[in-house]
Amino acid sequence: MMKVLEVKQLTKQFGETRVLKNIDLSVNKGEFVVIMGQSGSGKSTLLHLLSGMDQTTSGSVIVSGEDISQADESYMSQFRLNRMGFIFQQSYLLKNLTIRDNIILPGFKSAKVSREEVNQRADAIMAKVGIENVAANDIKKVSGGQLQRAAICRALINEPEILFADEPTGALNSRATQEILDILTNINKEGTTIVLVTHDTKVASRADRIVYVVDGRVNDQLELSAYETNQDLIKRDKIISSWLEERGF
Ligand SMILES: Nc1ncnc2c1ncn2[C@@H]1O[C@H](COP(=O)(O)OP(=O)(O)OP(=O)(O)O)[C@@H](O)[C@H]1O
Ligand SMILES: [Mg+2]
Repeated sequence: MMKVLEVKQLTKQFGETRVLKNIDLSVNKGEFVVIMGQSGSGKSTLLHLLSGMDQTTSGSVIVSGEDISQADESYMSQFRLNRMGFIFQQSYLLKNLTIRDNIILPGFKSAKVSREEVNQRADAIMAKVGIENVAANDIKKVSGGQLQRAAICRALINEPEILFADEPTGALNSRATQEILDILTNINKEGTTIVLVTHDTKVASRADRIVYVVDGRVNDQLELSAYETNQDLIKRDKIISSWLEERGF
């Protein structure tokens, strides 16, 4: 198995407070990893460090063999643009651009491929997630689920090595949540590695592996890849729920 992400003895301190403590973690190419844990346990902080949005206090974060933990911000902003994708609870789309322009913007900024190719990619991904009919809309004229689908398209426009998501369905109703989960599951099946933070066992039931964080440490991990996705979602949800319950979640 090829490792796309490897974390060694990662520590993060804010002032005197140690928020992450000696974290060792690796993610295989094509894997779908979910990070769970109590509020304040350090999940978002961990995601920020894994994705190069923030610097470690000590330890290393290695992406496809490259240690990014000491890289400076100008290098990292290019690195994130070209190689990482992000989805958050809110979509953070620009309100003076159409849905489509929001999606192609990071493609044009990256200059990794031609504008023609970016346009083609945008059309293909929008069709895949079912928002081609609102492509020309102002972002105020679409639903929450459509906004989040647009955020997924934007995150994928530069074909990232890893897609990071922090509570991507946290603001959605259950139907929109299921739609977003189906999309993420398909994207993962097509080869994109996903690292996702959630409180929701329904969301977690789509993962290959659960990483459980307690007080800034990886407390335990649950391997789920033996259970067939989709066919066994209810069973997986139950397994995760009782596993978490045993650990006091
Ligand atoms: N920039 C910062 N400066 C100081 N403390 C911070 C900073 N960011 C996070 N923390 C602290 O680090 C701890 C972990 O925060 P983090 O946001 O990673 O938790 P979380 O697991 O994502 O929680 P939630 O489930 O509520 O989103 C908290 O105690 C938080 O107050
Ligand atoms: Mg958080």
